[in-house]
Amino acid sequence: MFMVEIVISAFLCNLGQSYAETVVPVTTPVEHGEGPHWDYKEQVLYYVDTFAPTILRWEPQNNGVFHHKLDGDSVGIIVPIKNRPNEFIVCRDRYVDLFSWNGKCNNSGTLKRLTSVDKNKPYNQFNDGKADAKGRLWAGTLTRNEDLSVSPNGGSLFKLDGYTLKPINMFSPVSISNGIAWSKDNNWLYYIDSETRKVTKFRYHLSEGLIGHPTTLFDLEDHKHLKGIPDGMTIDTDDNLWVALYGGKSVIKINSTSGKLLQIVDIPATYVTSVAFGGHNFDVLYVTTSKLKLTLEEQELEPDAGCVFAVYNLGVRGLPANDFRLSEKTRRFL
Ligand SMILES: *[C@@H]1O[C@H](CO)[C@@H](O)[C@H](O)[C@H]1NC(C)=O
Ligand SMILES: *[C@@H]1O[C@H](CO)[C@@H](O)[C@H](O)[C@H]1NC(C)=O
Repeated sequence: MFMVEIVISAFLCNLGQSYAETVVPVTTPVEHGEGPHWDYKEQVLYYVDTFAPTILRWEPQNNGVFHHKLDGDSVGIIVPIKNRPNEFIVCRDRYVDLFSWNGKCNNSGTLKRLTSVDKNKPYNQFNDGKADAKGRLWAGTLTRNEDLSVSPNGGSLFKLDGYTLKPINMFSPVSISNGIAWSKDNNWLYYIDSETRKVTKFRYHLSEGLIGHPTTLFDLEDHKHLKGIPDGMTIDTDDNLWVALYGGKSVIKINSTSGKLLQIVDIPATYVTSVAFGGHNFDVLYVTTSKLKLTLEEQELEPDAGCVFAVYNLGVRGLPANDFRLSEKTRRFL
């Protein structure tokens, strides 16, 4: 009885903190981790080291890592293709490629060009993207300068379906096209242009793949204690958003209806880049980070910067990430 009371009062004194999450680095560091995608079929995490440019596959069962190094300057997105084991959509530089890789041997994948975007903008690169519930890819770009800084308003958000393989510019201009998530009922698309420091929402029409006008859901300017810019994002089964703060050393939880800030999860790396739920029950939040902007002195203070972190015991779950749907008919003409 006594124990129960102590537990209950501890719970009440810690309102909103009834779950004690733990944050653990689970991989070795890379330079700029990004784009985490939990593949529930294989129970592995894919992510990228953007400027290496390298695709990584981490197997939590045996802590094995395999990688495939690409040509070019950058890679942003890897999404598995539906019903096609060992095949992926990969967005690197301004290209969308079909990537075949068994993930069991380093540097053994092969690429085939599907399409490209921003043809008149040689300094543009894909940044972040995801497939919607119908298997269309939504992926955005930015304009990268030689020093890796970004020029404002050079990017766009594209939609690509696996029948036509023709990218359509759905929203522009944007500066740093970033986190994307859909509500469980698919009536809303949440989107981040990092430069604005806002999370916006659009009405989403799943059957047509169309968006309405953007409105602001959450503005970091209204939360002076939060630092950095919003980067990658995911959503849980309660329709709460989880947003990585690049330069903000944390992941924040936001109610996607009210825009209310619900929780701040501290991450022991200043540059937090993206998030994805994974694990058998989708109850582990995998968090990618970067050490790209840290000085050598700062890297000594943040030895785990660049690692993927696992956040356990958040008391929430995510949903399986969507695969890209490539039409068989279209495939035959590739
Ligand atoms: C594959 O690359 C990873 C690093 O990404 C390395 O740890 C591992 O030893 C490599 N495996 C083989 C078989 O070379
Ligand atoms: C989010 O906010 C809305 C509006 O205030 C509320 O009705 C809803 O219950 C909240 N969602 C969660 C999961 O708390």
